[in-house]
Amino acid sequence: MLGSLLMYLAFVVVTKEKPVMIRAPPQARHSHKSTYTSRNTQITLLLRMPGKIMDHRARYYCDLFRSTVLFWPPSYGKTVIVLDEESQGDHEFGEIVINHTRKHFPEYRLEVKYEALPKNKLVLEFPGAPRDPNYNRQLWSSFFFDLYTNDPIIAWMDSDVAFITPVTKTSIFSGTKLRVLGWDCTFHFPWVKQWAVSSERALGLPYVADYMSYFPVYIYRDTFLHCREYIMKHLNVSDFEQAFRLFYFDGNWLSPVSVVLSYAWFFERDRYDWNMKLCTDLTEYNKRFPVGATIGPEHLEDILSQPQTAFHVRYGEFLHANVLISYCLSQEAAGNHLDVCLKHNFSLSDNFDLLHHDLQRVKTIETNTCAGKNADYCLQVLGDHYKEVGLEIKNNLRQLNWRNVKAVEKLIKEMGMKCTYFI
Ligand SMILES: *[C@@H]1O[C@H](CO)[C@@H](O)[C@H](O)[C@H]1NC(C)=O
Ligand SMILES: *[C@@H]1O[C@H](CO)[C@@H](O)[C@H](O)[C@H]1NC(C)=O
Ligand SMILES: *[C@@H]1O[C@H](CO)[C@@H](O)[C@H](O)[C@H]1NC(C)=O
Repeated sequence: MLGSLLMYLAFVVVTKEKPVMIRAPPQARHSHKSTYTSRNTQITLLLRMPGKIMDHRARYYCDLFRSTVLFWPPSYGKTVIVLDEESQGDHEFGEIVINHTRKHFPEYRLEVKYEALPKNKLVLEFPGAPRDPNYNRQLWSSFFFDLYTNDPIIAWMDSDVAFITPVTKTSIFSGTKLRVLGWDCTFHFPWVKQWAVSSERALGLPYVADYMSYFPVYIYRDTFLHCREYIMKHLNVSDFEQAFRLFYFDGNWLSPVSVVLSYAWFFERDRYDWNMKLCTDLTEYNKRFPVGATIGPEHLEDILSQPQTAFHVRYGEFLHANVLISYCLSQEAAGNHLDVCLKHNFSLSDNFDLLHHDLQRVKTIETNTCAGKNADYCLQVLGDHYKEVGLEIKNNLRQLNWRNVKAVEKLIKEMGMKCTYFI
C-alpha cells in the first residue's frame, strides 16, 4: 500500500515537470528548474564480471578502473562489482580491488557483492546454447542488478568499457529523465535479429531498438524489478528461472539491455529521455508497434546532443586516442595549459567520433556523422560539454588528475598485467 502510494507520488513529481517534447538545442533541453534534487540522486556504477578469469581482471584494471578514476566523479555514487559467490578466485579478486581502492582512491567508494549460481543448471547450459555458461551467467545476472544496490539509479557497465570523456550530469539526465540511446541501424546483423526474437518472447511485445550501442546504460533501479515482474506475469510463471528458460533456450542470442529498455519503452516511457536513430523510415518502423507505443519524431536524434562518455574497448581500440584528447580539451576549458596538451594542440573536432550513436560502428555504419553542414552542430555540442566540465574544474567541483591514471598503471604493473597506454 505504502509502496504504491510512494510510486504514485513519484509519478506525480516526475510528470508535473513539463517535458520538452520537441528537439531543441542541447542547452535548452536541460533548462528545467526543479531538477536539482534528482540530479543529485546517487548513481551506482555497476559491473558484473567473473573475477577468477585473468583476462577479465586485466580488462577491469586497464579499461574501467583506470578511466573511472579520471572521468567519473566519485560524488556521483559508488561502484559495485558483482562476482561469483562459489568461486575462490572471485573472492580473492574482490579482496584485491577493495584493498587497492581503499589504499589509493579512498574518495571512490567500492562495494563487492557475490551472486550465487541459479538453482536450475539449464539456465546457463542447454543443448544448442549460442554462448558458453560463463557468458550466459552474465546474461542471467543482468536482470537482477537492483539486488546489489539501494541507489535509485544504476549505471550499467562492462569490465571492458572505458570512459572516454568526463561524465557530466547533463550527459546522464535530460531534466529529470534518464537519457537512453538506441538505434535500428544494426538490425541486419543476424545476432541483432535474434535479440529481437528472444526479447519478444520475454515481453510479448516487439523489440524496440538496439540498446547495446553505448555505455553506461542508465536505468532506474526499480525498472529491473518491474521488468522481472512483468515478464513472469506475461509468461505465467512464479519464478524468474522458469521465465528465463522460456525466452532463452535455443540458438537465439539474448540482449538483456534491450529487453529491459524495451520494457521501459512500453511501460515507463516518461521516466526516460529517448534519443534514437533510425536507418528505417519512421512510418515503416512504427508498423510493428501497438497503438500508443509508436516512436515519434521527439524520440529521434540523428546526431547525439551529448557526447558518448564511454566506449567498449575491444571493439574500438583506436578510440583510446580520445582519452587524452578529452582530458586536454577539459583542462584547456578550465584554463589549464598543460605541457602534454600544448604539444598536441587538440581541437574539438578531434572528438567528433564521440557523437556517434554506436562507437563500435564508427568505422562501418554512419561513418561521418559530423561531416559538412553537421560540423557546426557537433562543435556546439562538444563546446557546451567542455565548457561545463571546465567550469566544474575551475570551481573545484570536479578533479581531473592524470596522476590517478598513473597510480592505476602502477598497480597493473605490480600485478604483472599489461595495458595499452592512454598516451
Ligand atoms: C587486503 O588487505 C588486508 C588488510 O590489510 C590483508 O590482510 C589482505 O591480505 C589483503 N588481501 C589481498 C588479496 O591483498
Ligand atoms: C497459469 O498457470 C497456472 C498453473 O501454473 C494455470 O492454472 C493457469 O491456467 C495459467 N494461466 C494462463 C492464463 O495460462
Ligand atoms: C593550434 O591549432 C589551431 C587550429 O586548430 C591553430 O589556429 C593554432 O595556430 C595552433 N597553435 C599551435 C601553437 O600550434
